Amino acid sequence: MDGTVKRVRVKTSGGSYDVVVGPGALRHAPEMRDLLGRDVCAMIVNETVQGLHGAYIRSCFEGLGEFRTHIMPDGEEYKSFPQAERAFDWMLASGISRRSTVVGIGGGVTGDFSGFLAALFMRGIPIIHVPTTLLAMVDSSVGGKVAVNISAGKNIIGAFHQPALVVADIDFLGTLPDNELRNGLAEALKHAFIGENALFELFEKGDFDSIRKAESLMEIVYRSALFKSSVVERDEREGGLRAILNFGHTVGHAVESLLEYRGISHGQAVALGMAAELEISVRAGLLDRAHARRCTELLERYGLRIRRAGLDVDGLMAHMKYDKKTSLGRARFALLSGPGKPVYDREVLDDVVRAVLADTIVTGG
Ligand SMILES: NC(=O)c1ccc[n+]([C@@H]2O[C@H](COP(=O)([O-])OP(=O)(O)OC[C@H]3O[C@@H](n4cnc5c(N)ncnc54)[C@H](O)[C@@H]3O)[C@@H](O)[C@H]2O)c1
Repeated sequence: MDGTVKRVRVKTSGGSYDVVVGPGALRHAPEMRDLLGRDVCAMIVNETVQGLHGAYIRSCFEGLGEFRTHIMPDGEEYKSFPQAERAFDWMLASGISRRSTVVGIGGGVTGDFSGFLAALFMRGIPIIHVPTTLLAMVDSSVGGKVAVNISAGKNIIGAFHQPALVVADIDFLGTLPDNELRNGLAEALKHAFIGENALFELFEKGDFDSIRKAESLMEIVYRSALFKSSVVERDEREGGLRAILNFGHTVGHAVESLLEYRGISHGQAVALGMAAELEISVRAGLLDRAHARRCTELLERYGLRIRRAGLDVDGLMAHMKYDKKTSLGRARFALLSGPGKPVYDREVLDDVVRAVLADTIVTGG
């Protein structure tokens, strides 16, 4: 399947790396050999992925180096500071050195956690991300943000640590449940809305069943990696432009945090956030209502809800003020100033936000 592998080159201040995308990509990334052959490697694998794909993973890494494997239990709660400390002890006891490489295999939780270990261990060693969820392929594995959670909040303790390589092997997605697929589609739809026009067209032509095919998934991951890397290259550490990637996230994070991260996926929360922020863009006179409707119709076509019971406007407003993107107590928004034309760092009057929340995503019952 070599011919089906595509590559995106990501340039960063510290050098460049490739995102290798395709079915069977894990067998077609020869640069892994150099990165893995230098010393014993730390392989961090999500337990579900290990159960489903352990034999495949073993066969792909056979002969490429010597590995110590840490199986990471499922769940956001394991992406924590105490778990990281335990993992550092395990790395030391396993002979991981300054010349070692970390390999993180799993969804965004595993990627963020293993990236965090790599960023801090001996002041930083290389990380190869092998994302196995759509969300991790289209979003978290590219861009170098790594973090763990503390009791005060999610992703509070972290770093920018660009990977040495990302291998997005589409074959992993064959076992991904539909709800997890939707979770990733929300971020890919975000890329389509904020400027990845080819992706917008692909989503408009397709539906949930058609995009489940390997060639569509490959295109979605490839286009998302191209788009995200082009943004990250221009603003690696989120000093400005990178904030466009937060479209849907100011409200989305407030939704997640109001619901205490229970019973809602990140993607579903971002979809609600995008529905609200599209409407804010319309009311701010930036975006045509017809285009906003085209976007919300796409969210619904791909199984993402744009309204939800159990949310309240006051609660959402309060949570928005505690977000990392808030400064001086004022929420900042990425909005659309036209189809595929994002603007960022916009302040919006509280009354406008309140009215939009009440009219769009918050629903009784
Ligand atoms: N670093 C970033 O830029 C960034 C961006 C977005 C999200 N994130 C982080 O990503 C995390 C969410 O990632 P996620 O949605 O991938 O969650 P996740 O890592 O928890 O994976 C979701 C579920 O899918 C299962 N799974 C993984 N691969 C599978 C496969 N191939 N087949 C079947 N099941 C599989 C996992 O076991 C898990 O139960 C959050 O912690 C979030 O903060 C980071």
